[in-house]
Amino acid sequence: MTMRTSGAPLVQFTLPGVVGSRRESMRRGYLSVEVVLLSATGFVCLLFVLDQHGVVKRDLTPLEQPVSTKESVKLLVIPPGAAYWVRTSHLGCQENSSVVNITGFKQLPDHIKDFLRYRHCRHFPTLLDVPNKCGGPAASTEVFLFLVIKSSPSNYERREVIRKTWGKETTYEGVQVRRLFISGVPSDPREARRMKKLLRIESRDHGDILQWDFYDSFFNLTLKQVLFHQWVEKNCPGARFIFNGDDDVFVNTYNMVHYLLGLKTSNNGDKHLFVGQLIANVGPIRESWSKYYVPVQVTTSNSYPPYCGGGGILMSGFTARTIHKMSLGIELLPIDDAYLGICLEKAGLKPASHMGMRTVGVNIPSSRLDSFDPCYYRELLMVHRFVPYEMLVMWRAIQEPNLICGKKTQVYLGM
Ligand SMILES: *[C@@H]1O[C@H](CO)[C@@H](O)[C@H](O)[C@H]1NC(C)=O
Ligand SMILES: *[C@@H]1O[C@H](CO)[C@@H](O)[C@H](O)[C@H]1NC(C)=O
Ligand SMILES: *[C@@H]1O[C@H](CO)[C@@H](O)[C@H](O)[C@H]1NC(C)=O
Repeated sequence: MTMRTSGAPLVQFTLPGVVGSRRESMRRGYLSVEVVLLSATGFVCLLFVLDQHGVVKRDLTPLEQPVSTKESVKLLVIPPGAAYWVRTSHLGCQENSSVVNITGFKQLPDHIKDFLRYRHCRHFPTLLDVPNKCGGPAASTEVFLFLVIKSSPSNYERREVIRKTWGKETTYEGVQVRRLFISGVPSDPREARRMKKLLRIESRDHGDILQWDFYDSFFNLTLKQVLFHQWVEKNCPGARFIFNGDDDVFVNTYNMVHYLLGLKTSNNGDKHLFVGQLIANVGPIRESWSKYYVPVQVTTSNSYPPYCGGGGILMSGFTARTIHKMSLGIELLPIDDAYLGICLEKAGLKPASHMGMRTVGVNIPSSRLDSFDPCYYRELLMVHRFVPYEMLVMWRAIQEPNLICGKKTQVYLGM
């Protein structure tokens, strides 16, 4: 388990909604309009409250119909009371109510209770999809490196900078690179509505968003991972190699492609490869204050098999498909990277370390804390924990043709 930043909202924007428009009309003094609007608002709020308590059944979804593709733009200017108050349904999967009978259940933190209630749920509809990302299953063998980035909906700026830098969909040394962000939905309904609009716009502009209808929470990361492997199996089974990481990592795509091309004669994606920052001899954290707390009620095992830090993992298409097969028979565990270790173990495969992949604490060889040496990053495949502007600066720096490594090559990021 690597240290991850929790998806702090980076985007703030407001769209015309009920409240704004109501203020407008009051200013103009149209009393009747105001009354109508207030009633509409009241009604919608009532619906919303009822919905929160599960009173209104999910058959309200049809109200959302117009929000497919181009229609969504129009929705942004639709006056108050519009249908986008209603949340998309979580069809199908019922909570497991017998979990209350597990010893000590009542004392567990809420997110763990929640995990246990929905642990068995593995089928969630896609809200945004890109089934043709790899040109269809048959043509997907043309995709050499598939960059699949776990991104919470609000991390807009991170996605933007990745698109401009290491995640560019282009050809390196004659091979194709493709990019995809994988996401769930925010659990807060207000945030969910905003992000729905944002992701729909991004999806239309860039065609790189895969979003499922489940809460994008830390303990649902394994679910995201498992659903992604399922998606690859169906839509992109021929991709040679997959890089799967967080949206705050910096990838030296040139080096990664170069490294993979170097394997080509012995492994063209059809054999096992699973490399990253190797973590071994660890087990579930039993301290309840920890973000990574996994109580015995979730797993009684005291150790995890070796695995790679989930901040960034490079694997072959073969291994991605093997993980998919194994995962079908393994109960979900909250720690996504450890879960992958369990899948590998079941298949008799081993994760490996690659010295160019740093997911935990990079020791920056620099006298100044706020400076980075591009020469250092030029040698790596991937580093964890970059903020968007650092990614941009570093991406440019490593491409600098006149970069003379040895001395005086620091890029000052701190001002
Ligand atoms: C919990 O256990 C009790 C006693 O075995 C049983 O009567 C009850 O139905 C169980 N509750 C659930 C929700 O499974
Ligand atoms: C529901 O939870 C109980 C108690 O943990 C477990 O034995 C059972 O297998 C679970 N049911 C499903 C469908 O996962
Ligand atoms: C995972 O997502 C499902 C569907 O949105 C939700 O019911 C569940 O509470 C989430 N689990 C956690 C641990 O957040």
